[in-house]
Amino acid sequence: MQRIHFWQHGHAVGQMLRAYPPGVDALVDRIRAKGPFAGVALRQVLLPLYFAREQGWVIPGEHGEMAAIMYLRRQQRQGIRVMHVDDINVDERYRHRGLAQNLMQLAEELALCEQRPFMKLAVTVANTPAVTLYRRLGYQEQHHHYLTYDATVTTRTHQRTSDVQLRPLGQRAAWNANRDAYRAEVLASDPHLGAMMIAYYSRGAGGEGIPKAGMPRYAIESRGRPVGYGDAYQKGAQWNLRLSLSPDMWGSEIEQQTIHALTRAVVNASTQNESGIVALHVPSTGHYNALYAGSMSLASEFHMQEQRYERMIMAKVAANESYASG
Ligand SMILES: CC(C)(COP(=O)(O)OP(=O)(O)OC[C@H]1O[C@@H](n2cnc3c(N)ncnc32)[C@H](O)[C@@H]1OP(=O)(O)O)[C@@H](O)C(=O)NCCC(=O)NCCS
Repeated sequence: MQRIHFWQHGHAVGQMLRAYPPGVDALVDRIRAKGPFAGVALRQVLLPLYFAREQGWVIPGEHGEMAAIMYLRRQQRQGIRVMHVDDINVDERYRHRGLAQNLMQLAEELALCEQRPFMKLAVTVANTPAVTLYRRLGYQEQHHHYLTYDATVTTRTHQRTSDVQLRPLGQRAAWNANRDAYRAEVLASDPHLGAMMIAYYSRGAGGEGIPKAGMPRYAIESRGRPVGYGDAYQKGAQWNLRLSLSPDMWGSEIEQQTIHALTRAVVNASTQNESGIVALHVPSTGHYNALYAGSMSLASEFHMQEQRYERMIMAKVAANESYASG
């Protein structure tokens, strides 16, 4: 393995873009969609400069070409030091020989040497080869992927919301409620990675700030007890619903009623031109999985669909284990 030198970043970016055919990575596809002029500027100037700030590693192929590439970014926030794998790709001719796994092992060894306890990366949910590789190496899926459902059907078919009250919040109260509910969820879902995830992704599910005044933003209460926070905002033509709940409420009837009540709030705030499709974001993997739990899961009851063409965060605690034995 060798370091990528300054003059090689342009070449590395070309190889990187070739390694991702359309449909593999949502971010690379967005770059491609920028059109020929912006595409050339990105490929030849902006991306090489972006990656030049990071540490690149290459495994050379039989003829000196770049067989496998990895870029690492060192991060530190609130005293939490992290190794972020910004990109890893292997030339098609060199796949299934363990090259990616070797590079990932190098990244983790470097993290341990530098006293960086956490590894993380972003990957498109539907990128099965990459997700399989990361899972196998112990990376766990974090929040950042979401489900969609049809709000108009939901409001027609579910009525009972009597155990749940939505209390409208002002800007500051909403900000505090989102922060507290998000933290509680993420720490409950994954005590080992929770603090790191909160430091790096502090805004909560969906990654957005608090919606502006007039948009739905609520403290969620059940029989007088505070159980979570929910809000809704529009991004493009899409309504997004964000919901943090106490862990004992995940997947419960209270959550079912909450989703219903929030959906009604979204429908009330919508204009007739909108599609009625709502994206539900929950902050933690534990909560996300609870939506699928049981034979009558909330995901099936609301006919929710996982959005696979989106990027999610995967993370792990850096460890000294041997990859070869995994
Ligand atoms: C993902 C990628 C980096 C894997 O590279 P690779 O060198 O072929 O991977 P390795 O040989 O090290 O594979 C290690 C493990 O990953 C998993 N894996 C790799 N390719 C896989 C595939 N096509 N399908 C399912 N699992 C796969 C397997 O668990 C594999 O172990 P095994 O060979 O014992 O089954 C490569 O397919 C690639 O460059 N893809 C395009 C770019 C990309 O998606 N990068 C990731 C961005 S987040």
